[in-house]
Amino acid sequence: MDNNFHYKDNNFYVEDVSVETIVSGVGTPCYIYSYSSFVNSFQDYKKAFSKLDPLICFSVKANSNIAILRIFSKLGSGFDIVSEGELERVIRAGGDTSKVVFSGVGKTEEEMRRAIQVDILFFNVESREELVVLNQVASDIGEKARVAIRVNPDIDPKTHPYISTGFEKSKFGIDIAQSLDVYKEASQMKGIEVIGIDAHIGSQIFELSSFTDSLKKLLKLAKDLEHIGVDIKYIDIGGGLGISYKNDEIPPTKATYAEEIIGLLDEMPYKLILEPGRSLAGNSGILVTKVLYNKVGTAKKFIIVDAAMNDLVRPAFYESYHEILTAKKEEVGSEKVDVVGPICESGDFLAIDRELPKVKRGDLLVALSAGAYGYVMSSNYNTRPRVPEVLVNGSEYHVIKDREKIDDLIKNEEIPEFLSL
Ligand code: LLP
Repeated sequence: MDNNFHYKDNNFYVEDVSVETIVSGVGTPCYIYSYSSFVNSFQDYKKAFSKLDPLICFSVKANSNIAILRIFSKLGSGFDIVSEGELERVIRAGGDTSKVVFSGVGKTEEEMRRAIQVDILFFNVESREELVVLNQVASDIGEKARVAIRVNPDIDPKTHPYISTGFEKSKFGIDIAQSLDVYKEASQMKGIEVIGIDAHIGSQIFELSSFTDSLKKLLKLAKDLEHIGVDIKYIDIGGGLGISYKNDEIPPTKATYAEEIIGLLDEMPYKLILEPGRSLAGNSGILVTKVLYNKVGTAKKFIIVDAAMNDLVRPAFYESYHEILTAKKEEVGSEKVDVVGPICESGDFLAIDRELPKVKRGDLLVALSAGAYGYVMSSNYNTRPRVPEVLVNGSEYHVIKDREKIDDLIKNEEIPEFLSL
């Protein structure tokens, strides 16, 4: 977490607003983001990579609230998208579609058509068959689709298997060995303009050599392509830089990451594209929850809170760790507890065997580093309305998404005539 999230007079603050103040306005659970934190992480990227002047495409899947997209757009960011829905979000946020790259293994024809119509920068094509369909869609509307082939460089990013994407058995990208043939074919298609090479090897990566090993393979491919007359303008190295979720977990800084990449790309004739998600947004948000009950079992002590796996699924899904703090710092002693939610699943937890200050009903807890893959992965499981999102800017706070109502959840459901009472 950066210093926009801090204690002041023993109360937890986001910038200049206490969590307690926000909770008295919007209730719990809620996500709270810091505007300055987003701005700082984007500027850190810009500064670190300034020598190459890359296009930074915020990965929309990490946090897709249109207010957050507006922040990045105003800073000059492009966007990495994976669906038409994300494209519409970028458009509604006022984002520049000429700075959009479209990744994903399963783009539909409708999605392709819409993206061509709004003139995105390029598609990251992930299979030969997708290329054939994209060529057809573009030709049918008399356009050319700009394309990078997402190659699979067969790199082990040494991260959680669910978020590793660049190894041989992964569904993502085209095996780098096969890609030359696909490039040859693409360069002959009248609806396709080949302009780039792309790879994204995984997420929450700490090992910089994984990035450089991958980039070296991309550069070698670019040279091979040059020899067969295919000129590459863009090298897209994806996202994936890790963040700190625990105090003792120190990821490489953006500056050292940049140095490694600059070392390989300096003086090269390619424009660099980055697709960071987590490293731009992860440490810029928290989830706030209220203690409902203390429960002492024979084997364990549970703190039951009002946020659940439907609100923040990462612990249940990846057993991932989020630091948990009390919104009020008090000298009360500590104990080892499981922090669990109200959902009827044993996997519904925010923390297991965690040493936390003793808490009582009504106390507020904050789960840190929830700015990426937090709200966006939430669901309505157990018919729980999605929680509000709040953006703090200095001493002001703004609700950027309202809490859903039960009616919102049911409004598209219908009981067929034959079941009428
Ligand atoms: N580009 C592509 C093509 C991606 O698939 C992703 C993330 C990114 C960029 C951004 O990666 P980042 O910089 O955020 O690591 N839900 C998981 C993370 C899944 C990442 C999926 N792809 C989690 O909560 O840890």
